[in-house]
Amino acid sequence: PEPRLLDRFGRVGRDLRVSVTDRCNLRCTYCMPAEGLDWMAKPEMLTDDELVRLVRVMVDLGVTNVRLTGGEPLLRRSLVHVVRGIAGLEPRPRIAMTTNGVGLDRLAAPLAEAGLDRVNISLDTIDPQQFRDLTRRDRFEDVEAGLKAAADAGLTPVKVNAVAMRGFNDEGVADLLGWCLDRGYALRFIEQMPLDAQHAWDRSRMVSQAEILERLGERFRLTPVEGRGSAPAELFHVDGGPETVGVIASVSAPFCAACDRVRLTADGQLRNCLFARSEVDLRGPIREGATDAELADLVVAEMWAKKAGHGIDRPDFEQPDRPMSAIGG
Ligand code: GTP
Ligand code: 5AD
Ligand code: SF4
Repeated sequence: PEPRLLDRFGRVGRDLRVSVTDRCNLRCTYCMPAEGLDWMAKPEMLTDDELVRLVRVMVDLGVTNVRLTGGEPLLRRSLVHVVRGIAGLEPRPRIAMTTNGVGLDRLAAPLAEAGLDRVNISLDTIDPQQFRDLTRRDRFEDVEAGLKAAADAGLTPVKVNAVAMRGFNDEGVADLLGWCLDRGYALRFIEQMPLDAQHAWDRSRMVSQAEILERLGERFRLTPVEGRGSAPAELFHVDGGPETVGVIASVSAPFCAACDRVRLTADGQLRNCLFARSEVDLRGPIREGATDAELADLVVAEMWAKKAGHGIDRPDFEQPDRPMSAIGG
């Protein structure tokens, strides 16, 4: 289809990120409080049919890549069915998922069979005790098993996402890289962004790309990979080999100018940016009988309104009301 998700800065939306649930089975301290959040009620959430229909509308508007996110996407019971529905669209989009990996040991094979192409798995530390302190759950071994199952099921390249936090896991970044290299996982470090439910983000605790590279450089020789396109991560070859490590420097070197993303929340709100201050409701119209063309018009208009960038460094920056776990990473 002719790409129609355009904005006034010349960017084209091709990458749709769909949050399939806001719930999570971990409680990462940088994401949500120990008691969890006020989860969405079932009637507020898109049904499988509504969700797949909206993805189809987006594919007709030029989306070529769909990523399922959460909360924790594996907690949606119908996930395999949703993947099968999306894989049945024409033209078939590439389908990826971002997950914490808990439960993936069981689900990797059925998801791959349903049409999932690859996964990114969040893992910030390989020290089980530290993992427990960070996620408030003792599930390191589950994630380890999930990673292995993903690789065995051909959900490759398996990527690991790690948020580095000052004074917590920042000293372990080289160990984490070594661990991933040994297992054939592609590691990317992420700069922490102001998207936590507690609104406690503090720039001085964020570990910057420069610091991550400096620490990794103490053990590995890193050389930049050319040609990044719209990918959020800057990649580096490790020790001259084919393996790479990446850094997603969303704060110190934002990739907003090349952004090709658009987001759909589990309750059917379209967001043109992770940091958008507005959303357009698609659930209401879909339940009131809107046609595909009417839904498409709403989406096209919202994309046109996309801002140039997140503006974290601007004095008037305000964190979005919705936390990361209810937007989808
Ligand atoms: P690939 O297609 O594998 O490159 O996936 P991805 O990196 O786009 O997806 P993933 O869900 O693994 O995202 C990794 C991290 O990138 C997220 O946790 C966010 O921190 C960051 N990220 C993703 N999308 C955006 C975005 O639109 N803006 C910003 N600033 N950061 C983003
Ligand atoms: N900043 C950057 N990344 C974050 N993630 C969660 N919260 C933040 C944040 N505030 C990461 C998770 C996971 C992905 C979905 O987003 O660690 O890898
Ligand atoms: Fe769950 Fe992801 Fe938030 Fe951790 S970062 S609590 S895995 S939604």
